[in-house]
Amino acid sequence: MKNRTLTFSIFRYNPATPEIKPHMQSYQLDETTGMTVFVALNRIREEQDPSLMFDFVCRAAICGSCAMLINGKPRLACKTLTRDYGSKITLMPLPVFKLIGDLSVDTGTWFRHLSIKTRAWIHTNKEFDPKALEERMDNATALEIYEPERCIECGCCIAGCATANIREDFLGAAGLNRVARFMVDPRDHRTEQEYFEVVGSDEGVFGCYGLMACDDNCPTQLPLQWQLAFVRRKMAVAGLKR
Ligand code: SF4
Ligand code: SF4
Ligand code: FES
Repeated sequence: MKNRTLTFSIFRYNPATPEIKPHMQSYQLDETTGMTVFVALNRIREEQDPSLMFDFVCRAAICGSCAMLINGKPRLACKTLTRDYGSKITLMPLPVFKLIGDLSVDTGTWFRHLSIKTRAWIHTNKEFDPKALEERMDNATALEIYEPERCIECGCCIAGCATANIREDFLGAAGLNRVARFMVDPRDHRTEQEYFEVVGSDEGVFGCYGLMACDDNCPTQLPLQWQLAFVRRKMAVAGLKR
């Protein structure tokens, strides 16, 4: 079977050269077996246009760097096979995040802000005793914590979220998933009222419309629907007690 010729229509804009307005640029490439969008982008950069900006680190759907809009949907370029698409593929940078250039966005600053805002570390009343033996955690609890920990901070759930696109401070599914992680951790001594201060607002769980685009777009298949419902239930009860 003859290989297809793919046409990539790619968003171009470099904030360092604002005199060149944002525009779409087309590149053609022969498809190879098992080609991912990431492989295609690398070839375009190597063979046709060294100025093309996009991010990657792991090439294995682990680091979350290569997320972008592929035909309008947030996806990881390194996990997306070109054979699942027609011969025309449109690539845009993720919305919500600050544009670095072309397909590259700054998710790092956004997620750092999220960690600070959700106070994403163990809050304990226990005095640290360096001589104490490590405490065992039962497997079921460890697995419950491990599940939300699988977030790779790619930003796909945020980019596809209606609220995050209009409300700058919305924590999004990634933020609420992060809070859920600490809620199930018995070492964290925060009360429901303390969590309410963090997520009991329209910037947190009450700004969520519940239409679950986040759940559809998460490349690690995190059970975001379940995590959001868990946080919402807890915060509704905490709100009633206030
Ligand atoms: S369910 Fe909530 S967090 Fe998920 S995409 Fe919709 S509004 Fe955003
Ligand atoms: S929850 Fe899923 S989609 Fe959202 S940042 Fe984490 S891995 Fe990406
Ligand atoms: S390059 Fe790491 S997730 Fe795609």
